[in-house]
Amino acid sequence: MSASPMVSHIPVLLDEVVAQLDAAPGETFVDGTFGAGGYTRALLSKGVARVFAFDRDPEAIRYGETLAASSGGRLTLVPERFSRMRQALAERGVDGVDGVTLDVGVSSMQLDQAERGFSFQSDGPADMRMSREGESAADFLNHADEDEIADVLFHYGDEPKSRRVARAIVAARPIERTGQLADVVRKALGHHPGMKKDPATRTFQAIRIHVNQELAELEGGLAAAERVLLPGGRLAVVTFHSLEDRIVKRFLKERSGAMPAGSRHRPAANETGPAPTFEAVGKAVRPGPAELDANPRARSATLRAARRTAAPAWGNAHKEGTER
Ligand SMILES: C[S@@+](CC[C@H](N)C(=O)[O-])C[C@H]1O[C@@H](n2cnc3c(N)ncnc32)[C@H](O)[C@@H]1O
Repeated sequence: MSASPMVSHIPVLLDEVVAQLDAAPGETFVDGTFGAGGYTRALLSKGVARVFAFDRDPEAIRYGETLAASSGGRLTLVPERFSRMRQALAERGVDGVDGVTLDVGVSSMQLDQAERGFSFQSDGPADMRMSREGESAADFLNHADEDEIADVLFHYGDEPKSRRVARAIVAARPIERTGQLADVVRKALGHHPGMKKDPATRTFQAIRIHVNQELAELEGGLAAAERVLLPGGRLAVVTFHSLEDRIVKRFLKERSGAMPAGSRHRPAANETGPAPTFEAVGKAVRPGPAELDANPRARSATLRAARRTAAPAWGNAHKEGTER
């Protein structure tokens, strides 16, 4: 592995995340998505006592080892999914933290390394696994039935022609390379130079979300954060597309009492639910023009933040990660 791809990730909405986390010396934080360590570095520079930095990608963890070694014991790298943060912290003797941040999705290092298989712009194995474990994109595309592939493209990629693309994928099996997959999608949908968006974008997003179970992970991470945050603890979550943002928005609305659990409708006047576990839910924050100029990859980022109350967690531990 060369060092260069590992340092190319520009942290997104960094100042805004740091402001929301409001870290003070002596406090303990979880960075659920270490990546290239942009948020963790900022927290360490605020003089916090401990940062537990999670990443399910072994390369990100390996990359963080130098920073951990120079942190004076303040940084602990945790090679786990963030949906397991409660169990992973407990195993390390910690049952409450002052802040949790999640910056979900893939890093630039993952996108830019063709051999990870995340990008339709460069040819590599159709892999897309952040953890390098379990079912790869190729496994899924070569073994799932056409309807299942179409459903993934439709639900996770908003691909309006999901059936047509799924049919083309099945006809072209075996799919082994990202270049091959991108060509199959482009042929199925029609592609001409100068198109604003490559037609393969939606398919790649959908397959990546499916392979990494990203939406279930996000739900699990939010449920776990609710359990590990101490009263007054801060939560800051950055997402990259509307499916993810909807999950965070709905979670915070529900848990702050603005919407009853499991319902899209307002509560009846006499209806009382569990006490809110979050307050001070801020408005969605998006990158400004200066950040977008410097980092076009930030264009679809949204930050949402809130503060933990002292109320007991609502108890959907089933959404947290389990051993695999
Ligand atoms: C967008 S990057 C984070 C960048 C980081 N904030 C920085 O400033 O460098 C997302 C990282 O989170 C990791 N990741 C995504 N989902 C995860 C999950 N459910 N559990 C643990 N790590 C995850 C990815 O492997 C990737 O390294």
